Formats: sequence, structure tokens, C-alpha cells
Amino acid sequence: MKYKVKDYPDKDGFYGKYGGRFLFPEMDEEFRRINDFYQRIRNDAEFINELRYIRKHYQGRPTPITYAKNLSDKLGGAAIYLKREDLNHTGAHKLNHAMAYALVAKKMGKTKIIADTGAGQHGVAMAAAAAYFGMECDIYMGKVDAEKEAPNVDRMKIMGTNVIVVEDGAGKLIDAAAASFAAYEKDYKRCFYPIGSALGPAPIPQMVRDFQSIVGIEAKEQFKEMTNNRLPDKVIAVVGGGSNAMGLFSGFLEEEDIELIAAEALGRMRNGEEEQIGEHAATATYGKYRTMSGFKSLALANEDGTPRPAYSVASGLDYPGLGPELAYLKELGKVRFETINDEEAIDAFYQLSRTEGIIPALESSHALALAIKMAPSHPGESFLVNLSGRGDKDIDFVLNKYHQ
Ligand SMILES: Cc1ncc(COP(=O)(O)O)c(C=O)c1O
Repeated sequence: MKYKVKDYPDKDGFYGKYGGRFLFPEMDEEFRRINDFYQRIRNDAEFINELRYIRKHYQGRPTPITYAKNLSDKLGGAAIYLKREDLNHTGAHKLNHAMAYALVAKKMGKTKIIADTGAGQHGVAMAAAAAYFGMECDIYMGKVDAEKEAPNVDRMKIMGTNVIVVEDGAGKLIDAAAASFAAYEKDYKRCFYPIGSALGPAPIPQMVRDFQSIVGIEAKEQFKEMTNNRLPDKVIAVVGGGSNAMGLFSGFLEEEDIELIAAEALGRMRNGEEEQIGEHAATATYGKYRTMSGFKSLALANEDGTPRPAYSVASGLDYPGLGPELAYLKELGKVRFETINDEEAIDAFYQLSRTEGIIPALESSHALALAIKMAPSHPGESFLVNLSGRGDKDIDFVLNKYHQ
């Protein structure tokens, strides 16, 4: 079956059996309003032109593709190309959806952003978007993440955002998300709640995929231009919830002969080992079909939808949920999921830094690690990897804990 991105989701926000919207009536009504508004403006010329202007003159798009020649030569197999989302203003792909979300919020008459963040990249991106559009901004961050990603906390504060450190639970993204949603529920009439990945109740997964699709559109053209009109054999992205993966994959999903591969976090586990709950964040591999956080998808959750503990060295992957479209693409066999553990990601972090002079985010290092692992056995092929963010936020943590 050919997958046509524009045919999804259906009118109720479903991708097969995944997605939808499962909220209390008041919130359901608000998300319905957001959906109606978004479906009206998503193809509107004025909205698209405003977004194009922002992308070019504020974000610094298009971001380039870099051929990682030194790394590829060292591995001696496939040629590795990097889509450089780390070169987006604020240092990650998250700004692609952040600016678009804030533009929608502004047009809806909202004056305040309430959001949560794990690695801090979505928080920094929303802080920049709020400053750009003159909106108030509250960002919730778990205590563990706030300590680990301290540079991003400072960046948000400098841009005028109020950072609320959440001490509940394990002090991670899932706890920050619960606190931010509770705050949003109390004040939703004037607030917008931009979820930081391609997940959540409809229409959020669609909005984020649409806003991120610029990554795939650019990458396809750029790759052809660099390689005499060829396309990559494999397209690889890391998956936390799915925003950078859906952005890149959406540009290649309708091609028949390209393998789309998602790397997810195996944390402290070893490949092939029996599952150890709380030691990984590999939701597509170990998750079950659940209703969690207002939508249906694969999740590391109990039958009643309460989340189970997750873990990854990369805060942005340390989350028990998966975007509904990716869950559906897995079911259809259109996207293959592989696992990468902490050690492999840290090794890739150093390898890229030392061969190419590019320090990747720990999240992106998972995609890179998968490419590094596969490259030697695929000579003659080319891999396109989404380098979703830069590693400045991770430097202190890596040097302290994994000095090489
Ligand atoms: C640089 C970077 N890459 C990837 C991710 C994972 O998120 P997603 O799967 O939504 O792209 C994050 C999340 O914080 C991130 O900061």
C-alpha cells in the first residue's frame, strides 16, 4: 500500500487505530476549536507566507546537508549525509514547530504560552517564539532535566520565560507534562499549549508533522542536488515522540525504495536483552497499545494508561510515549525501529565531534549511532541522518560523566 501523507489523519485525528482525542469535555472543546482554526488556515496563503518569511529571515532556513566524509571514510561503508537541523536558530529542529505554533496562537488571539520540555530544546524554542511574538511564556521542566540541561534553563530565563522546575515524581518530562497541562487547564482561554513533539490529542500530531515537514522537503531537494539526482538508500532519525522523524520521513514516505529507520533509546539495557522496566525508553519496541495523555498509541504504560518509568541518557528521549502516526507507520511496515543504548550514543557523540568537528545533541547521537553501526555492512549505499540538534546543552554532562 502506498502511504500518502496528505491522507492522514482522518477527520477524527486517527492514523489507523492510533491517535484521536480523549479529553474531558471542556478541554475536548478547546482542542476542537484549535483543530477547526488550524484546518482553516493551514493552506492559507497569508499564513504560509508569514511562516516562510520567519523560516528564512529568523530561523536561518534552509539548513544545509553536510556529507560527513571523514566519518564515512573511517567507517569504510555507506556514505553518511547529515541534515543539519542543529544549525537552526536555537540549535534544534524544535524551532520549526515552535514558530508555527506561536503564529497560530497569535492568530487565535492567545497571549500566553504554557509548555513543558525535557532536554530544554522545545522550551528554548518556545521561549524564542514567545519573545518574537511578544507573548508571555511559562515552561515546566523536571528537576533532573533542569539540572542536566542547565544551559537551556538559563537561555529560557534570559529570553524572558518563566521556568518552573517540577520536583514531583521522578523530576522528568512526564512529570513536567502533567504539571504544565494542569496549569493550562486552569487558564486555557488565553493560553496556547504547544506540545513538544508529534504526539498528544488531535490535532497536535498533525500540526507538528506539518510544521516539521519543511525538513523533509528541503532534504529531498538538497540531496538530489548534491548527488546527481539520486535519493538516499536509508533515511534515519531518532525518535522521542516523533517530531524530527516525521519531519524528515514525510519527505520520503511516498518513495518506494527508501528504507525509513527510526532509532529509539535503549538506555542502560543491552541489545537483545530481556526488557528491564525503567531502564529504557524504547516505546515502539516494548510499548503496548494504550490511551495515555489524551490519545491512543503505543506507550510504556499500564492498562489504565498510567505511565511506567522510562530512562535514557538523552533527556529528550526519556519519555514513555510515541506519536500516533509513527505507531501506525510501524504497523504498516513503512518505518523500521531499531534500538541504541546510552553507550552507543555517547560513542557516536564523540566520533562525530572528532571526525567532523560537529558536536551533536545526545538525542541526535542515537540516530547517528545507528548509522555508524550499519554503515560498514552497506558499502555503496548512502544514508541520510537527521542531525536534529546540537550538543552544547550536553557538554558539561558528558564531560563530567563520560569523559573520553
Ligand atoms: C535535539 C533533539 N532531537 C530529538 C528529540 C526527540 O524529540 P522528537 O522525537 O520529537 O524529535 C529532542 C527532544 O527534546 C531533541 O531535543
